[in-house]
Amino acid sequence: ESGKLWGGRFVGAVDPIMEKFNASIAYDRHLWEADVQGSKAYSRGLEKAGLLTKAEMEQILQGLDKVAEEWAQGTFKLNPSDEDIHTANERRLKELIGETAGKLHTGRSRNDQVVTDLRLWMRQTCSTLSTLLWELIRTMVDRAEAERDVLFPGYTHLQRAQPIRWSHWLLSHAVALTRDSERLLEVQKRVNVLPLGSPALLPLPPPELNFGAITLNSMDATSERDFVAEFLFWASLCMTHLSRMAEDLILYGTKEFSFVQLSDAYSTGSSLMPQKKNPDSLELIRSKAGRVFGRCAGLLMTLKGLPSTYNKDLQEDKEAVFEVSDTMSAVLQVATGVISTLQIHRENMAQALSPDMLATDLAYYLVRKGMPFRQAHEASGKAVFMAETKGVALNQLSLQELQTISPLFSGDVSRVWDYGHSVEQYGALGGTARSSVDWQIGQVRALLRAQ
Ligand code: ARG
Repeated sequence: ESGKLWGGRFVGAVDPIMEKFNASIAYDRHLWEADVQGSKAYSRGLEKAGLLTKAEMEQILQGLDKVAEEWAQGTFKLNPSDEDIHTANERRLKELIGETAGKLHTGRSRNDQVVTDLRLWMRQTCSTLSTLLWELIRTMVDRAEAERDVLFPGYTHLQRAQPIRWSHWLLSHAVALTRDSERLLEVQKRVNVLPLGSPALLPLPPPELNFGAITLNSMDATSERDFVAEFLFWASLCMTHLSRMAEDLILYGTKEFSFVQLSDAYSTGSSLMPQKKNPDSLELIRSKAGRVFGRCAGLLMTLKGLPSTYNKDLQEDKEAVFEVSDTMSAVLQVATGVISTLQIHRENMAQALSPDMLATDLAYYLVRKGMPFRQAHEASGKAVFMAETKGVALNQLSLQELQTISPLFSGDVSRVWDYGHSVEQYGALGGTARSSVDWQIGQVRALLRAQ
């Protein structure tokens, strides 16, 4: 006997290099628990369908519990011929309970078994990742609430644009992550579908594993990996958001900006330059995005040319899922740590605000006096030019000088030169006024409570 599940029609031996090439046990062993869980449910289904006696089912269930116990205790011994987790568990079951083990595979193929296992595993993982994602969002919202009176420059094109609340920046990243959480729920919905009973073309009544739905077509069920592709895309987009946030913080942490300082816990030093503290945590978050995108693109390429139903190419899905899950778990925890321990330098943030950032407000001042915005923009632009030419700050221009640009300027223009007043003007939903930032915090907290 070859020790293979499919040994019957073979006489020649498999080349050892092929044996290794073909095997997935090195990584799909992570599925051991899901595989046992799936097999237990399947044996109950077989008993219901009259394909196993109650005694046989009990024997199989007890054997499977023993298999699980060995995995859990680290005593499960792999054989060189254990091609994958399904082979390994069934081989061990047979050693434990004898020939009855062979009845477990009635009407089942590894093609539906593997996809059931993967779905069970991902169901658990998605829920863990969702919790980690919300821990990060909560950390960001807590900070946004505690530090909502800190002002600093908002940038567009990395040029100083307008004063904003630091909380407004934090929330801009937090709300992107709430969309990731929403998307993850969608992914979970499509992960939570039961394919077991869709073996190589013969349907059996599906057993109870608490899935939300069952697959509609057995050929599709064993060959589609949409739920994997969607998971990898979810991770890719989430990493895009985290990478952009990391990039902002790396920049804000430079001496040139000096708005934030990363805690020692998330930094490293230079082996050469003693003064250096490098933001490795944030750089790695940024770089892991590339790794995750690669897995997503890689799987799509694997899928795109496959003929109908199961092909061994599909074995490649698992390394992508495992690697991306591990990466997301680490990245989300590190990001939470970085945000919760980050120091902010309020004085530097305040000092980085300059009167030219109030040029838009100067235009609005004229708008309030009745000037059309296009003209007001032009007039404020002229004031900026005048200040630059004279080598003074925008708020240093005298009233007389401003009045050479427009007679609408009067003494109350001095009120424009107040950063606190500036941010308070933007009270519309989504703006940077305190009321608006509070509203955003409330919205995100409501989502948090709904989890
Ligand atoms: N290890 C395989 C995988 O990961 C299990 C399914 C194998 N099926 C087959 N017909 N060879 O996809």
